[in-house]
Amino acid sequence: MRQSLVVGNWKMNGTLAGAESLAKGIIAGLSEGSAAIAICVPYVHIPSVSAWVKGTELALGAQNVADKSSGAFTGEISAAMLTEFDCKYAIVGHSERRTYYGDTNESVAARFCQAQEQNIIPILCVGETLEQREQDQTFAVIDAQLDAVVNMAGIASFGSAVIAYEPVWAIGTGKTATDEQAQEVHQYIRQYIAAKDQVIADKIQILYGGSAKPDNAKGLFAMPDIDGGLIGGASLDAESFLKIYHSI
Ligand code: 13P
Repeated sequence: MRQSLVVGNWKMNGTLAGAESLAKGIIAGLSEGSAAIAICVPYVHIPSVSAWVKGTELALGAQNVADKSSGAFTGEISAAMLTEFDCKYAIVGHSERRTYYGDTNESVAARFCQAQEQNIIPILCVGETLEQREQDQTFAVIDAQLDAVVNMAGIASFGSAVIAYEPVWAIGTGKTATDEQAQEVHQYIRQYIAAKDQVIADKIQILYGGSAKPDNAKGLFAMPDIDGGLIGGASLDAESFLKIYHSI
């Protein structure tokens, strides 16, 4: 049985004061549950948030990680730096990084490897644009995104990774994939892994991301291959994030 997981991706939002009330608001609303919960916060907030979440069930993550281990890479943050603040997770390959900052399937795979070298669990984002969906390329796009990681890190690496299916057309648009549309791709991803390693396929958490909200989370999370969510906008409000967490 897979443990469910709900992760908030705060993106580039908020102040330190806002981060404090949001993180503490989430912690205050946590109750004994079977699902795991985490927040991926802006880099500069990581040291503070790390102290606030210490000893709680709320885990900490970063929104990216460098594709190299150290050196002359101005502006980058290494996986080793993140471990100093107990980051459990790092998102890699978010579509916003792919679209605006030039991340490629290969550089995403390198970030994935760097995270794992420091025992950080990469949350690998995959997903198609609207144009790709309309041209029936969804599965080919997902294949290429997963292939790059398998080629660089090997299938065994998915034994300590999370995958997030985030259809680009549903991110920040208010358009959510229907439960069935999301399930179809999640099932496809699990089958892709199963063709290489059935044990890992049964175990890996595959999250849905893209305008997941308190009112649609329950239906999505009820799907057999959806193991939780990567939540953007709705994770910026403690109450709505907790409602999503409690819909599992
Ligand atoms: P929204 O929930 O705001 O659509 O963002 C989804 C996302 O990109 C999470 O990583």
